[in-house]
Amino acid sequence: MTLREAYRAGLLRLRAAENTDAEFDCGCLLECAAGISRTARLSNPQAELSPEKERQFLEMLDRREGGEPLQYILGKWSFYGREFSVGEGVLIPRPETEELVALASERMLALHAQTVFDLCAGSGCIGLTLALEHPEAQVYLLEKYAAAFRYLQKNQTDLRAANARLFMADVADFTPPDGEQADLLVSNPPYVESGQIPDLQREVQREPRTALDGGADGLAFYRLIAEKWLSYVRRGGEILLECGDGQGEAVAALFADKTAEQQVLLDRNHIDRFVRVIV
Ligand SMILES: C[S@@+](CC[C@H](N)C(=O)[O-])C[C@H]1O[C@@H](n2cnc3c(N)ncnc32)[C@H](O)[C@@H]1O
Repeated sequence: MTLREAYRAGLLRLRAAENTDAEFDCGCLLECAAGISRTARLSNPQAELSPEKERQFLEMLDRREGGEPLQYILGKWSFYGREFSVGEGVLIPRPETEELVALASERMLALHAQTVFDLCAGSGCIGLTLALEHPEAQVYLLEKYAAAFRYLQKNQTDLRAANARLFMADVADFTPPDGEQADLLVSNPPYVESGQIPDLQREVQREPRTALDGGADGLAFYRLIAEKWLSYVRRGGEILLECGDGQGEAVAALFADKTAEQQVLLDRNHIDRFVRVIV
């Protein structure tokens, strides 16, 4: 079977399964199975796919038809120009989180940040990226769940983020070592209201519930940060939080009486997506 024949067959299957990104997904899966780049696939469509690679492609199509996220099947996903390993048990890095990282990176420069905390780190896409972009800083990343933590460790090793320190710990009862205070605390915590989880897209439901569920009103983790973590951020330091559509004002309000300033910031789709707090 040639690459072109495999692509056409895959496309028909994904379209029949009502995949709305059938062309993109089929191309990514075929390139992954064949171990070639997009350019190689498109420039040489008559190349033969070996029986072993064809079998791998068909298995990948089965998984995608079954509703498994594309990123889990590929086993990696690009974030801020780097590849992060992902799979069952870890949240897939989202494009809006790249905007959070860009904001955090800008604030790190302005604050001359030496110490950064990333709470609820998952794959490490936020904290490891900041560590790599700012090799002079120390970045502490906290993740509670073992399945996610394994990806965090793998990503740190693969990306060689030597200035990142990983802790498998619960944000509810962790104390930073050596009385360390952060210049900047960043977090993209679980923020979906528990009652809304059954209404999420089929693919999102394959991601861990523990990465999504923010309690009855979706704000449990922001409350925890406002109550417990302020004392671990130095005065004049900052907190940058990602939140869900419509949560910005409520998140900012949790910090209103306790901090110098709070701002709700919009993402590129004009959704209130980030909250910046000056401590
Ligand atoms: C929304 S995901 C964000 C992951 C990553 N920071 C990102 O932006 O892709 C939230 C993460 O918080 C972790 N988590 C949930 N409860 C936690 C807790 N009590 N302490 C530490 N991490 C927790 C989840 O396992 C998940 O990896």
